Amino acid sequence: MDEKDIFILRKLYENEYISGEELASYLNISRMAINKRIKSLKDLGYKIESTKKKGYELSDKDIIRVWEIRDYIQSSNLFKEFIYIDEVDSTNTYVKQNQQHFKNATVVYAERQTQGRGRLSRRWVDLEKGIKMSILLKLLLLDLEKIIPLTLFTGLVINRVLRKYGVNSFIKWSNDIYLNGKKICGILSELSGEVEGLGSIIIGIGINVNAKSVPEDIKDIATTLKAETSQDFDRTRLIIDILIEFERDLSNFDKYGFSYFRDEYKSFCINLGKEILINGERMLCRDIGENGELVCEKDGKIIEISSGEVTIRF
Ligand code: BTN
Repeated sequence: MDEKDIFILRKLYENEYISGEELASYLNISRMAINKRIKSLKDLGYKIESTKKKGYELSDKDIIRVWEIRDYIQSSNLFKEFIYIDEVDSTNTYVKQNQQHFKNATVVYAERQTQGRGRLSRRWVDLEKGIKMSILLKLLLLDLEKIIPLTLFTGLVINRVLRKYGVNSFIKWSNDIYLNGKKICGILSELSGEVEGLGSIIIGIGINVNAKSVPEDIKDIATTLKAETSQDFDRTRLIIDILIEFERDLSNFDKYGFSYFRDEYKSFCINLGKEILINGERMLCRDIGENGELVCEKDGKIIEISSGEVTIRF
């Protein structure tokens, strides 16, 4: 999809009907060229109807309004670019492979991922009408100790935005967002570049938003915002609000680290006080440490955990 296609989508979004002639004259291309573009947009899954004498109509308006996100990016002091892709293997992989061409603080969004990746080499199931995006933060003096807290910070920001929307979401350590006991959002942060040299962090965010349901094989562990609330969410607004909130507090994260957000994190963390299984070992979750580590108790001993798979026993 190129800039002309984005323009066509914008016109379709903003008008009830728009004729092929009008689109052709706006873009200074032939009527035939418009037909071709409309056909390939339909092939990509956009629901475009045509009615004689009226013109084209976008019958499903749940699309990403790239132009609005770019307007925000232009006014942002942090984010530099928003790249929209219809289909890609994984936005994290794509950013990793192409980062030399991208500016610091580029956001890459994909409407579909064919090989979405999760933590611990798991897959990330691609649901329609979700959010799958990666934020590239470049030129960081790579500090392995920062990546975990930065990912926790990102989870906290997303939880904060969802709560502003009235969603009763919680954080499951380290950075899953849960709603009604099931996962709605996961974050995969990856370091790339030389350790202790200049490199980058790629923060991949997957949110299950407007799909009506999740596939049978994950239905006991995952859900979507729509399935839980019976509401449709404006994905464009959600993306912008997450980026705004991330930008707003990133300087505090830089200055003070995770400890600045620790109380807020703790107040939404569902692990605290629960018995949990970490890599098969049963422990009691006591606290979240200054750098976001999970502080557990096992056989009277305190153990700090900074990564691993956590299963909660409610
Ligand atoms: C997890 O909970 O295991 C992390 C899931 C992360 C999924 C997102 S979707 C966008 C980005 N691209 C990927 O391949 N993964 C992340």
